[in-house]
Amino acid sequence: MPARKSRTHEKMSAPLVEQTSADLVPGTRSLAELRSAAAGCQACDLWKMATQTVFGEGPKTAAIMFVGEQPGDLEDRSGHPFVGPAGKLFDRALEEAGIQRSEVYVTNVVKHFKWAAAERGKRRIHKKPRYSEIAACRPWLDAEMAAIKPRIVVCLGASSAQALLGKDFRVTRDRGKLIHSDLDPHVLATVHPSSILRAQDEESRRSQMRAFIEDLRQVVRAANKTSKS
Ligand code: URA
Repeated sequence: MPARKSRTHEKMSAPLVEQTSADLVPGTRSLAELRSAAAGCQACDLWKMATQTVFGEGPKTAAIMFVGEQPGDLEDRSGHPFVGPAGKLFDRALEEAGIQRSEVYVTNVVKHFKWAAAERGKRRIHKKPRYSEIAACRPWLDAEMAAIKPRIVVCLGASSAQALLGKDFRVTRDRGKLIHSDLDPHVLATVHPSSILRAQDEESRRSQMRAFIEDLRQVVRAANKTSKS
């Protein structure tokens, strides 16, 4: 009878990413077909706690694609990206920068809400996705990029920036700069709108908002310079 593998051995020999959504992604550039396939994604365990997959939204002709981290509580309930408090702030900043939300594509690196129950009450507290969860979800983001072919991809916050530009990328150091990466489109990273909501006081919230709007204006300038392939 063959010796049973020890649990430690199983753990050590397990690949970092056991499964990704790659096998589930249909070979299509239709956003509707991609969205419908993603609705049944179980490539990592996050679907078990989430209400639904929150796929990206926006027109296929979008020149700018914004990529956040993962849906929050309201996004999970409604099925739409960036509709909660961070989304409202994002909308205000877009407007100030002269960007119409209806003309851009908005998505996340992870498409299920990762949360833990609050110690007291019924609140669902956001939990940062793990590397393996981001990797499992990545084929959906790649499919969105292939379908849209944006002129510029904008990472909102460190999770998104590090997923697309590498773990050494620092938003604090390189925000607002156009990065020429291995990805076809140009990439620019800025802060996550929820970081502005967490500002210590009104004055710092205002100055963080101004800096965010300035990064978004930079996005417009960059998008106007590059051509859509
Ligand atoms: N934060 C994100 O990163 N994405 C959302 O869709 C909402 C909040």
